Order: sequence, then C-alpha cells, then structure tokens
Amino acid sequence: MSRSKVSDLLKNGQPGEQVEVRGWVRTRRDSKHGFSFIELNDGSCMANLQCVVDADVEGYEATIKDVTTGASVALTGELKESPGKGQRVEMQAGSLKLLGTADAQSYPLQKKRHSFEFLREIAHLRPRTNTFGAIARVRNAISASIHRFFQDRGFLYINTPIITTSDCEGAGEMFQVTTLDLVKLAQIQTEIDFSQDFFGKAASLTVSGQLEAEIFATSVGDCYTFGPTFRAENSNTARHLAEFWMVEPEMPFYELEDNMTLAQEFIQTVIRDVLEQCPEDMDFFNLRIDKTCMDTMRNIIDNDFIRLPYTEAVKILEDSSTEFEYPVECGRDLQSEHERFLTEQHFKQPVILHDYPRTIKPFYMRCNDDEKTVRAMDVLVPRVGEIIGGSQREERLDVLLARMEECDLDPKEYWWYADLRRYGSVPHSGFGLGLERLVQLVTGMQNIRDVIPFPRTPKNAEF
Ligand code: 4AD
Ligand code: MG
Repeated sequence: MSRSKVSDLLKNGQPGEQVEVRGWVRTRRDSKHGFSFIELNDGSCMANLQCVVDADVEGYEATIKDVTTGASVALTGELKESPGKGQRVEMQAGSLKLLGTADAQSYPLQKKRHSFEFLREIAHLRPRTNTFGAIARVRNAISASIHRFFQDRGFLYINTPIITTSDCEGAGEMFQVTTLDLVKLAQIQTEIDFSQDFFGKAASLTVSGQLEAEIFATSVGDCYTFGPTFRAENSNTARHLAEFWMVEPEMPFYELEDNMTLAQEFIQTVIRDVLEQCPEDMDFFNLRIDKTCMDTMRNIIDNDFIRLPYTEAVKILEDSSTEFEYPVECGRDLQSEHERFLTEQHFKQPVILHDYPRTIKPFYMRCNDDEKTVRAMDVLVPRVGEIIGGSQREERLDVLLARMEECDLDPKEYWWYADLRRYGSVPHSGFGLGLERLVQLVTGMQNIRDVIPFPRTPKNAEF
C-alpha cells in the first residue's frame, strides 16, 4: 500500500481500495456510539478527507484524546462511498498513528475565522488555512504556467545576478550589500572606501534583471528572467513589497506594438491555465474573497486590452468628474487611484498605456521623435493597477549616452550596456511583470503581503 495524496483520492479513489494518508487534523468529532470522525487535510487540495475511526481500531484508545486540531497523523484504511454530502469517498480507518500532538490550549489556528492581519503574524502556520493553502497552490500554478508560456515559444530562461553594481530603474531604491564593518566605520567616521569592500566597489541587491537580459536577447534571442528583486522603497501600500518576484522577457527585433501583443497574450494564457488547473481554489476565491473575481478573469481572457497613449489617458482623467486625492497633470506619474479609475470605471477592462513623458521614465527607454515621450508601456488591470511595466529599448548609442547624462548616470559604469549599441545594435523590447500583483489579480486578495509566503516590508523581515 503506497501513501496517497488526499487530492488524488477524492478525485480518483475507488471504493474498496486500501490506502494510507498522512496529514494534519482539521477537526475531530466523537460519536456517542464509540467512534470518531477525523477531517484530515494534507495540503494537496482544499477539501479534507473524512476518516471514520472505530473504537476498536489499532491505536484508537491510546491516542484519540490527543488527535486534536493541528495534530499530525497517519491513517490506513479502506475507501468507502461517502454517504455525506460534498465528497465522493471517505475512509474507514484500519489503523491510526499519532505523529505529532498540537496542544489544544496554545495552537493558534482554532476553527473560527482569523483575520489576515493576525495570520501575517503567524506566517509559519498560515499555509495550513484554506485561504493560504489555496494561494500557495495558485501561485505555484501561475509560476509553472509562466515558464510554460515562454518555453513553448522558444524563449531561453536566463538566470541574472541578484547582487549587482548597476541601478536599472535609476530610482535609488537599492539595498546595499556589504561586508564592511559598519559599526567600526561609524566610530572612525571617515569617508567609506568601497575599494575595501567585498566586490571592490559599492554593490546592491538587484531591482531588475533587465539590463543583463538585454545582453542575452541580443545574442541568443528571445529570453526571460524570473527571480526575486528588491526595492527599498518606503511605501507601506497594499501593492508594494521590498522583495518581490519579477518575470522579465526580453526580445530582439520587437517594437513596442509587438511587446504589447506579447504582454496581453502572456497574461491571458496564464489566467486561462490557472482557471483550468485550480478550479476548486478559484471557486473558493470567488465565493469568499472577491465575488467579482471570476467575471474579471473572463473579461480579461475574452477581450483585447485597450491601447492608449498616456496623454489621452490624462485627458480622460482630467475630463472625469471624479475627485482624485492626487492631482492629474501631464508630465506626472499616474497614481494607483488614476490607474484604477481607467480600468474599473472608464474602460472596465485592462488598459495598456504607452508613450509616457520622458522625464518620468528610466534612461533605457527609446526616445520618440517628439523628444518629449518615450516608448514605454504599462499594463493596468482592474483592482491592482499597474501589473506590467515595459518598453522598447533605446538602440541608438548617441541617444542612449545623452539620456544617461540627462539621468545623471556615468556612462563608464554602464560601458557594457553601451557596447550592445556599439556592436550589432538591434531594435528590441521587453517588460517586467510583478508576480505578486498577478497573484493578487487572480485571487482577489486585497493585500500583497498575503500572496507571498513571507513578505518583506518596511520594519518587517520575520520568518
Ligand atoms: O515597472 P517596473 O519598475 O519595471 C522594471 O523593473 C523594468 N526593468 C521591467 C522590464 O522592462 N524588464 O516593475 C515591473 C513590475 C511592475 O509593473 C509591478 O508589477 C512590479 O514589477 N513591481 C512591484 N511589485 C511589488 N512590489 C514592488 N515594490 C514593485 N515594484 C514593481
Ligand atoms: Mg513601473
């Protein structure tokens, strides 16, 4: 008899089959007639396996009192057709073994509903709840689908460095990485000499793998990175993390329109995959977390995204009668309230804004002939706002160098990036999708801290 996953048994298990399951007790109910029901969850799916344990079962007497919520057990037995509603089969136990107790007084996950804020404080136990188990499975399905999407199209998966010496986004939000003795240095109070540091110069955690991805795009062709990125932005919002995962495809010979088409196909394909692979979890999110979740997904899958120049979006916002907290002004970055107005109220579907003012975008974006705007694109979606940021890249060496100067970047530090424009430069494009924002979109979860296993935010790096 081999050990089975509950998900498998509930789907494919046949009455009469002898099986073994292991997992954690969600509840135990004792019948007056001398037997117990154990609801067993092993995390493979949301549903529990109902196990009926008679008093004469091996192990019953010695352990049943300690088989409490949160305890871990191993059960063997026979599958039976279930007379109960909501499940096809249940188990008639033949043996019960208690693996680990869970003190009923102190176990934090009792049957009542807990707030997400409370669960964040016990991030080591929250994956045992329905919501966080479902999020873990959906996040996994999304990640697998992301790889499949690019692999099916012949993109190479490139591992770009986590420690870097260049600030791709130029926003100065980098976490420094050092082995210098900061305590000692603070006492001496001299200027810091980074040539003495581990890498011989100031280094940081990466904010993006894009610049390195461009190297590979302009040599081996279509490629993508998928890894953790770090930003020390001090924004305590429901959409920002200090550590988040980003997918960054980079494609030679793509112009901005090709980039937009790929971005739309990408989001639609991944959502379609998740709906197909996680139907039960998605039903749960639609029922318990956000009742509009499924409709939003269908709407995204079924329609082409709106494409709209930034200047026209500003006009729509200015002409709207809505009172915004932050003023709308051409040349300023849009706030999340503006993005949400466009996708939720005005268009009621995803919008790709493009051709943003040069002054609010990074140095690497291709300059338009109007000298005011760059070939940037942001994909905005209902509820989440910006989910993708990308652009066509500046492939002209002279324009790139001028832009670096304008952005106060030292071209010497980016010599290798400029070289890509010196030797066989080609038009190319790419974008970055924030994995957590996609998980938020799909699950309907309000706070980004709840869609990553262990969130890192200002003043918080527990677990
Ligand atoms: O728009 P961003 O800053 O673009 C880049 O980093 C480019 N280098 C991408 C590229 O062209 N290869 O970030 C891309 C996406 C955002 O649209 C958002 O979804 C997510 O990354 N993101 C964050 N997610 C969570 N927390 C944060 N602090 C985030 N900052 C950006
Ligand atoms: Mg952005």
